[in-house]
Amino acid sequence: MTPAAIDAEAINIAARTLQSGGLVAFPTETVYGLGANALDEEAVKRIFAAKGRPASDPIIVHLHHPLQLPIVALDVPPVATTLIQHFWPGPLTLVFRRTPQVPAAVSAGMDTVAVRMPAHPIAQALIKSADCPVAAPSANRFARPSATTAAHVLEDLAGQVDVILDGGPAIIGLESTILDLTRPQPVVLRPGGVPLEDLRAFIPDLEVITKYLQPDETGILAPGMLVKHYSPRAQLLLYEGSSHQIMLTTIHQRAQDLIAANKRVGLLLPDSEIPQFAHLPVATFSLGADLEAISHNLFHGLRTLDSLGVDVILTHTYPAHGLGAALRDRLIRAAEGHLISC
Ligand code: TXA
Ligand code: MG
Repeated sequence: MTPAAIDAEAINIAARTLQSGGLVAFPTETVYGLGANALDEEAVKRIFAAKGRPASDPIIVHLHHPLQLPIVALDVPPVATTLIQHFWPGPLTLVFRRTPQVPAAVSAGMDTVAVRMPAHPIAQALIKSADCPVAAPSANRFARPSATTAAHVLEDLAGQVDVILDGGPAIIGLESTILDLTRPQPVVLRPGGVPLEDLRAFIPDLEVITKYLQPDETGILAPGMLVKHYSPRAQLLLYEGSSHQIMLTTIHQRAQDLIAANKRVGLLLPDSEIPQFAHLPVATFSLGADLEAISHNLFHGLRTLDSLGVDVILTHTYPAHGLGAALRDRLIRAAEGHLISC
């Protein structure tokens, strides 16, 4: 189906699956989610098993209307009302204190809950029809690039999910921005679809946590801050340069060295940069022309180059303005925290 032509019969089947404790993968405007009834602890546990996700990583609860918020959240501060008016439905997740109705498994035992109202018509129709809050992490195997198409969901979760609603590619392609409202000061835990600049219009002294946790550190602030995340199977080499041309020259040299060492090389670059590498025996994935397109295509690009069997993927960062902050964050995690300065 498409967002403009929703298949009511399919939504019905998926909603009944959620009500009976099953798992449903569905498109949102950010990425595909792997949903379960958020109030059904057994169903929520199936999400962790299906993804191979550690129980210490909490899950976002999705609503179809702000009126559902009191079911899951306590002590909603006034700033939340303003943010909800401006950014819901949309790619902004807010962290509140959790009601006793929400099983502890959803929040990895913490007394908080992360909540968002997706803007995608298929997600909204599903949650409305299921008539319950829907817990849904991104619909990928743990630590893999997020799923932005139904085919990505199948690739990672075939046999682990009861229903997949195929609504075409996700729209933004990067996950939601997560804002914790349970502290004295609002803190961004993950940059995402809502740019930080847009949030600062309402919260001038917004704090942003930029720390990346190593696998042996325990993440008390946000368990999802683990540095290894969104990773392709190939090694990802991520370049950040003082100038664009220095960055591309360095990537070119490294590609040549890798080819000489018999490595299969993949390049993940914007359209305009690909022709400079046309004479090299490399696999390429064109990310598009602007930040929106690059964000939309990033996870698909990582998965596509993986499926071509490359050993190493070469790519670079983007300035951290607008969607660029989220893009940079995902690239750093996909590269397991290693930024190569040039
Ligand atoms: O755009 C999105 O947010 C997508 C779509 C499906 O809605 N979902 C998503 O879920 O990205 P997931 O599980 O891949 O990432 C959610 C992150 C987790 O890494 C977790 O650390 C954080 O949200 N999170 C969830 N509940 C939290 C809580 N109570 N406190 C702090 N962080 C939380
Ligand atoms: Mg995820």
